[in-house]
Amino acid sequence: MSLFPYPEGALLMAPLSGYTDLPYRRAARKCGCVYAFTEMVDAASLAYARKRSESMLLRGGDEPFLGVQLVGANEEHLKIALDVLNEYEFDVLDFNLGCPVPKVAKKGAGAELGRHIDRALACFSLFRERSKHVLSAKIRIVDAEDPAPTLALAKGLAELGAQAITVHGRIKEAFYAGPVAYGIIRQVREALPGVRIVANGGVTGREKYDEIRRETGCGAVMLARGAMGNPWLFRELAEGDAYRPPTIAEWLELMRAHIGEMIGLYGEEPAMRIARKILHDYFRGRGFHSEIRSRISFLGTKAEFDAFLKAVPAAHSETYWSRPGAERRLRREESAAE
Ligand SMILES: Cc1cc2nc3c(=O)[nH]c(=O)nc-3n(C[C@H](O)[C@H](O)[C@H](O)COP(=O)(O)O)c2cc1C
Repeated sequence: MSLFPYPEGALLMAPLSGYTDLPYRRAARKCGCVYAFTEMVDAASLAYARKRSESMLLRGGDEPFLGVQLVGANEEHLKIALDVLNEYEFDVLDFNLGCPVPKVAKKGAGAELGRHIDRALACFSLFRERSKHVLSAKIRIVDAEDPAPTLALAKGLAELGAQAITVHGRIKEAFYAGPVAYGIIRQVREALPGVRIVANGGVTGREKYDEIRRETGCGAVMLARGAMGNPWLFRELAEGDAYRPPTIAEWLELMRAHIGEMIGLYGEEPAMRIARKILHDYFRGRGFHSEIRSRISFLGTKAEFDAFLKAVPAAHSETYWSRPGAERRLRREESAAE
């Protein structure tokens, strides 16, 4: 079975800036994730500060599928970055046309570029000219009321060779909140039968997963915040009723391995700085008192992290971890949707 452009039922892990490094992806892969991406890589940084960006391009020998995502709007920067990426092997090269954060938008890139369709397509044509990789794009809907500009963008990308397009069904101004425009995602899918359209937005559990598939008709779905701190979501959605959430021992072991791998990769101090936000995600919605969760913010060394994890089993709420799996699953899901 070919992994690209994604078979029916494929669950993709979203590119997440500041998160989806190799240790993060490995944790997700232990929970059944196959399709994953690097964090978005900025074209200018790759072109002019290559050393710093290169750690983002690290690929594990055990990774079955890895896409790289590039963001940028300056054609000269993009050309150099595309040449650099040609020195690497990825399963797909994805163009970010959906990032709404001011740091990216003020350079005219990401979702801002997606709103200027001619410019976006001019940039993407460089991908076709220069890249050895197969191509995809990740877009936001351009207008929540009128499907026409989103359709024009998606069609243009497809004509330039995008074999898959992920559509996040929210406009730039909505950032990550509010309803997902399933109807527009559906129209993109219907307009481009030869392109794999991946639906994205708001999937935190089975109910939302079934809903996005039903309403958009998309066979492939991308998970983002729903799987942050809950990589078991991949297994849950694949297994359906057979799914059993992790025990406290399994949950602790995955976290320990994840953070341990970060320390091995980045060194203790830099790793612990990133680890704190990741640990907050793992603890959310799992029945811990705010007191134990607040201690996460003060973990600065591996020794402190190890001691903290040792104390966790005694500090957990019996009532949460001894509940039936289905109840624990729902509790975690509710907190992810908050
Ligand atoms: C912390 C964070 C970082 C993100 N980084 C990226 C990124 O690097 N590239 C990208 O295309 N989208 C990025 N996104 C957007 C997600 O991939 C996804 O499109 C969005 O969160 C909507 O999906 P969700 O509602 O399931 O979370 C990011 C989102 C968050 C919350």
